[in-house]
Formats: sequence, C-alpha cells, structure tokens
Amino acid sequence: MPQEPEKAELHLNGKTFEFPIVTGTENEKAIDIAKLRSATSYITLDPGFGNTGACESAITFLDGEKGILRYRGIPIEQIAEQATFVETSYLLIYGELPNRLQLEKFSNSFTQHANLHKDMLNFFSGYPATGHPMAILSSMVCSLSAYYPELVNPEPSEEDVDLTAVQLLSKVRTIAAHAYKRSRNEPFIPPRANLKYIPNFLHMMFSSPKKDYEIKPEVVSALMTLLILHADHEQNCSTSTVRIVGSSWANLFASVSAGICALWGPLHGGANQEVVEMLEEIEKDGGNIKKYIEKAKSPDKSYRLMGFGHRVYKNFDPRAKIIKKRADDLLNGMGIHDPLLDIAKKLEEAVLKDDYFKERKLYPNVDFYSGIIYKAIGIPTNMFPVMFAIGRMPGWIAHWKEMKESPDSKIGRPRQIYTGRTLRDYIPIDQR
Ligand code: ACO
Repeated sequence: MPQEPEKAELHLNGKTFEFPIVTGTENEKAIDIAKLRSATSYITLDPGFGNTGACESAITFLDGEKGILRYRGIPIEQIAEQATFVETSYLLIYGELPNRLQLEKFSNSFTQHANLHKDMLNFFSGYPATGHPMAILSSMVCSLSAYYPELVNPEPSEEDVDLTAVQLLSKVRTIAAHAYKRSRNEPFIPPRANLKYIPNFLHMMFSSPKKDYEIKPEVVSALMTLLILHADHEQNCSTSTVRIVGSSWANLFASVSAGICALWGPLHGGANQEVVEMLEEIEKDGGNIKKYIEKAKSPDKSYRLMGFGHRVYKNFDPRAKIIKKRADDLLNGMGIHDPLLDIAKKLEEAVLKDDYFKERKLYPNVDFYSGIIYKAIGIPTNMFPVMFAIGRMPGWIAHWKEMKESPDSKIGRPRQIYTGRTLRDYIPIDQR
C-alpha cells in the first residue's frame, strides 16, 4: 500500500489546517508553512530564527547533535585533511570537486584577478591607520561594484557570476593584506603571479620592498586548514545576510559586503579576536580561570566566555576538534610556546566539567583555538575576523548563487507582531 504523505495539522480556534512536510536528503523534516498566513491570518514568531528554515539548500549539511559537518556531502574531516582551499571553494560554489583542468583554470583566474584597480589603492590612505580592517574590507568589497559595473547587472549571466566570484575570492586577499599594511603605515606589496593562493596572501601581508617573507609550508598548511574549516556553515548570521541582501537582486559584491559586516560582530566572526583578548586578560590577571568562569555564570548575563557555545552544535563543534590539533602541531613545529594555548586548554577542561556549561551544552566553537594559530603566524588580533571573511567567501558566493538560481527564491521580508501604541492623534508642539 502506498504510504500517506506526511502532513502536519494545526488546530486553531476550532478549525483544522493541514500543512505539507518537507524532507531533506538527510531526513531532516520541516513543516512547510508558506500558506499559513493566507489560510489562517496568523504568522509564526521565532526570534533568532532558531526553528525557521529560510530556504532549501544543497551546499552544506550539519547535524549539531552529532557534530557532523559536510560540504556537498563530503565530511569536513576529509576535506580539511586532503583538499586545498581553492578546491574547496570550487566544490562549494559548483557542487562537485574539480578535475585537474577545471582546478587549473580556476586557480589561474585567481592569479589573473589578484590586483586591485589602481584608483582603489588610493582609498586605503584615506582611512585612519587605526581603522578596523573589517571596516576597510567591507567598504572595499562593496566598492568593487563601482569598478566592475558590467558585473552588477541584477540578472547576471552565468559567466558574469563566475567572474564576480573569482574577483571576490582573489581580491579579498589583496584587500585584506593592503588593509594590514595601511594599519602599519607600510607600503603595499603587490600580488605575485608565481605564488599560489595562500603563499600569495602571506607574501602580500609580510614581505617588505626590501625583504621577501619566507613562506613556510607548515604555516601555509595551518592557514589552509583554517580557511577550509571556515569556508561554509549553512544558514549562519552572515550567510543569511548575504542571501537576504541578494534576494532584493542586489549584486554579489554588495551582498557579500553586507555579509562581512554581519560577520564582524563579536557573537559571530568577531569572536576569534575576542577569544584571544579574553585569554590575554586572564593571563594578565594571573591565570585565574575560575574567576572568569564564575563571571560568565553570573545571573546578570553581562559576561560570556568567548569561543564557547553555538546555536547549532550542542555536543561538539567538529571544526574546533581539528583546529585544536592544528594549533598544537603548528606551535610544536615552530618551536613556539604560547602561554595562551595552555590557558585555553585549562579553560576548556574546566568549562567541560562545569555544570552551568554542561546543562547549556556549551562547548568550544570554531573560534576558540583559531586565534592561537593566527597569533603564531604573526597575524594581529584585529585581523582575525578578516581571516574568517577570507575563509567564508566561497560559502557566501555559493549561497548567493544558489539563491539566485532557485526558482523558489523570493525577496526576504519577515513579518512582525506589532507591540507599539495603538491609534492616537498627533499633538501640535505647543500643546505637548
Ligand atoms: N558564556 C556563558 N554563557 C553562555 C555562553 C557563553 N559563551 N553562550 C551561551 N551562554 C548561555 C546564555 O547566557 C544562556 O543562558 P540562560 O539559558 O541561563 O539564559 C544559554 O547559554 C543559551 O544562550 P543563547 O545566547 O540563548 O544561545 P544562542 O544559541 O542564541 O547563542 C552564541 C549562541 C551566540 C554563539 C552564544 O553561545 C555566544 O554568545 N557565545 C560566545 C560568542 C562566540 O563564541 N561566538 C562565536 C560563535 S561561532 C561562529 O559564529 C563562527
């Protein structure tokens, strides 16, 4: 006997309404309420969208209870171990791993588009040297739309989207490195055609006109892992921002620029900077971990342990596991002893035993150990969120492209329950 299709029933004011069930390829279930308001005149209320699916997506699967993360079906552990960041970007954006020829073409296009327009270089000197590099990055990425007007068509061709994607993936490194140089009042180092994606970035960051930076394979490899682990994370705050901005047919540069701003916040991609600052503060304070744990548990909720907790992961963050090992390997390989790593490990150990954190299922997230790696490489703390943005670029592009290509996509426009004053009259100023 054919099985009845699953459905959900809503009993409301004596009436019954039926809603279809949508099932994903990993058996995730959703109640499709697209017709809820027209059928019932009610809406749903879900602050923070913890229970709301905004779209169907075939890019990234994650299961927060089991600590699973897969890009296009492939486990993150395999990708982090075996793939390059450029390959990962291709996989996320186009859905399949590239063959040799496709990869070569994709990589070469990064070399071709790494330079910024010469007029854009003037912008950097207009920023104060103290300006946060995320402010510079987001503005510069949006400014790209002024320099490539042929790529801002609201209904771009496939070729235009491909070219915009390459421009973004390649230029984000150049903008990031130039923002860093600006903050140090040092001359820009242009990209080199013979260097691959990450070595080229390191060269632009750390070489000077007089001396080339020595590119160490262990540094490239650690950075590669970090970028791959940050490359996508389905409908997080910044990616949802990119999708919602793009849903108004805003161009890819503008949509990604909005995503960078969303990522900047300390509860999202800004957390990696906050983690290291927190660890430094604990260190300066004599390493009193207990004091900070107690502070984070205080009922006034005015303090959080940065790098702990996640909206989706409630068991462990698979990325944090990989990064923790990477941090150990890199520091050992470079012969660095960073007391912050010791504090981080002790803090993690104490938190995992603490009932407050256990009850709330708060585990170290991707940002907890990443800052220690960036620090070992010599990247300053205010550049940490920028590193996250470089890593997340392929994810943002993949989601924007998917949204654009979906026949079901609509302009993002949530509703609200109004709780303000009811109708009243205007009072002229002399009568108030
Ligand atoms: N330290 C102390 N308490 C915390 C923490 C923390 N890091 N995170 C959550 N809590 C507590 C909350 O106070 C709340 O307690 P209550 O139930 O007694 O009110 C409970 O845990 C649930 O917290 P919410 O804020 O409701 O959880 P939510 O899913 O909305 O937030 C978030 C997730 C934003 C990541 C949160 O855990 C947090 O602020 N963590 C610190 C910042 C951070 O590391 N962000 C990076 C996240 S990873 C990423 O974006 C790449």
